[in-house]
Amino acid sequence: MTKTNIAAVVLAAGAGTRMKSALPKVLHPIAGQPMVSHLIDRLTSVGADQIVVVTSPDIREQIEIFPSVEIAVQDPPLGTAHAVLAARDSMEGFVGDVLVLFGDTPLLTEDTIQAMVEARRGKNNPAVVVLGFSPDDPGEYGRLVTGPNGGLEEIVEFCDAKEDERKIGLCNAGIMAIDGARLFELLEEVVNENAKGEFYLTDIVSIARSKGWGCVTLETDDPDEVMGVNSRTGLAEAESAFQYRMRLSAMESGATLQDPDTVWFSFDTQLGKDVTIGPNVVFGPRVKIGDHVEIRAFCHIEGATVDTNAIIGPFARLRPGADIGPDVQIGNFVVVKEARLDEGAKANHLSYIGDSRVGARANIGAGTITCNYDGFLKSHTEIGAGAFIGSNTLLVAPVKVSAGAIIGAGSVITKDVEENALAISRAPQEKREGWALKYRLRKQAYKDKMEKKAE
Ligand code: UD1
Ligand code: CA
Repeated sequence: MTKTNIAAVVLAAGAGTRMKSALPKVLHPIAGQPMVSHLIDRLTSVGADQIVVVTSPDIREQIEIFPSVEIAVQDPPLGTAHAVLAARDSMEGFVGDVLVLFGDTPLLTEDTIQAMVEARRGKNNPAVVVLGFSPDDPGEYGRLVTGPNGGLEEIVEFCDAKEDERKIGLCNAGIMAIDGARLFELLEEVVNENAKGEFYLTDIVSIARSKGWGCVTLETDDPDEVMGVNSRTGLAEAESAFQYRMRLSAMESGATLQDPDTVWFSFDTQLGKDVTIGPNVVFGPRVKIGDHVEIRAFCHIEGATVDTNAIIGPFARLRPGADIGPDVQIGNFVVVKEARLDEGAKANHLSYIGDSRVGARANIGAGTITCNYDGFLKSHTEIGAGAFIGSNTLLVAPVKVSAGAIIGAGSVITKDVEENALAISRAPQEKREGWALKYRLRKQAYKDKMEKKAE
């Protein structure tokens, strides 16, 4: 791997109490992926040589599982500057630029990260680059104080800001790119003489200025990208902003979304070309959809692969391990789990297909159920190519229906069926001529008698 000379420090040691959750804030998911791993993925894509996540001791174990991440523990949390200092040992020997990100600001884009690094390495060799934005309501964000030539002079935290400073619209997003050679010298000079009694990372700007080092602001025009999540409402807003982004990107890459606002993607959903997605479709993690697939309204799909030209739904559910071959049709109220359906197979109505293999062009009649679970074990059902399974069939696994066989409707199949055979298991039908008429006359006579009695 080529060296980028970029190290990232992701701050995630804050308490996150406003989430009112047993789950640490940075592990709450957006589009099915923990917030912090959104950032880790972006940093991996830009080729960061090192990613250090600063955590509190209690969530350490839950963060450690993420690949290619080092952990630095901050205990107790004494502020954002103090948090970056906690990563110092992990970065021993590192030469390059340090990105500081907040674990609760997960929607940062790769482009912005790149631009931050470029600005740091650009004109006048600034010590610090700060990501700024101008939100409609600056609220309690830190304010960026710029000088006459546009350079950044100081960041004032809201609670320490004077009235005129609070009127500044340009805010601190919290994300910085800092020259690694100067970072720790700056951090060592940060003191906690402020309203909160914390060591503010934001103070490194005025400290750098006092040394005659330049600081600059890079402004993003997308406030969603720097949205910080502090509460469940914030989480929902971030989810919605991220879904919006995914819907746009799906359409831009050639998918038709009939009602984009009602389609919910997972962070890793993969769509082929000319995919059509109807309203109210939900994707869970690990879904791959091939070219020209049509997913009709109200489908729920997770852990599934769907091959070219297949038609799914409306109202279908594909659960993990569903492997849908080309030209397959899965219709309404059909659940598929851990099952492969080969080319052209059809299961169009009201079925459960689990732990199965269905051969090419087999037809699964309405109401067919693979009885894969006996309360102890899961067993496999094999349905051969071109087999025809009559409606309302129960296939009690383990069982095999060979190629070309036909199963009579309503059967309970417990034994293997040979190639091209007919299997049928149902109570023989009785015939009683005129019975229905006699029955109706008898009923009517009874009704008449009762009415007479009542008069
Ligand atoms: C911070 C900025 C503020 C900016 C805002 C943007 C500072 C001093 N202030 O304020 O200028 O406008 O973000 O959202 O940086 N954390 C630790 N250890 C600590 C304290 C915080 O790891 O000791 C982590 C938190 O988990 C969080 C991040 O740092 O991910 C930011 O901390 P937070 O307390 O939310 O800062 P803000 O008050 O929002
Ligand atoms: Ca915050």
